[in-house]
Amino acid sequence: MKIKTFLGGYDKNLSYLVWCETTGLAGIVDAAVDITEILEFINSKNLILEKLFITHSHFDHIRYLEDLTHQFPQLQLCGYNFPEEEFGDYFRGLTHHEIIPLGTEMLTILHTPGHYPDSICFWNKKDNCVFTGDTMFVGRTGRTIGAKSNISHLYTSIYDELLKLPPQTIIYSGHHYGFKKIITLKENVRLSSFFQCNSESEFIQVMKQYEKNR
Ligand SMILES: [Fe+2]
Repeated sequence: MKIKTFLGGYDKNLSYLVWCETTGLAGIVDAAVDITEILEFINSKNLILEKLFITHSHFDHIRYLEDLTHQFPQLQLCGYNFPEEEFGDYFRGLTHHEIIPLGTEMLTILHTPGHYPDSICFWNKKDNCVFTGDTMFVGRTGRTIGAKSNISHLYTSIYDELLKLPPQTIIYSGHHYGFKKIITLKENVRLSSFFQCNSESEFIQVMKQYEKNR
């Protein structure tokens, strides 16, 4: 699967254009960045935009969704089965461990609540990469001070889902908050105390300490 990164939006947001080289079918991970540059790239490569992958429905991650659906009225909007927002007729609800195709490429859905209830990650097993939205960044997790956040759920999502993927898996997160844009799970665990906890209670302490010092 090919990946191109776009930076912009509300707060160093990252959107990704992903595509299948065999079929030219493409998808965008999060409508978080102005679409002009993305569409220019799509046209320059003669790609066919088929899907929008929604990591979660926080406003900054769907900010340019209407711009996209205006130009691509039949775009499949792929998000968690029980979304916190209404996405209309072209919404395709996804469940935990469901596999969805993009041409010949396959993405496995991981439901990873905690930062937000409808958070999901899109894992490409073949190419060892996962799109983590605001569940995991380079260096830390997403924040848990929102009304619908839940630190226990985030612990399970991080430790029982993401950190169970192969250590060489590269994470592509929803914001450029780290010292570089992408990182392997292995390196992220080595560098960050968020990912070194031995228990849920230890993780809760790390998160509470972090939020207190912000
Ligand atoms: Fe978020």
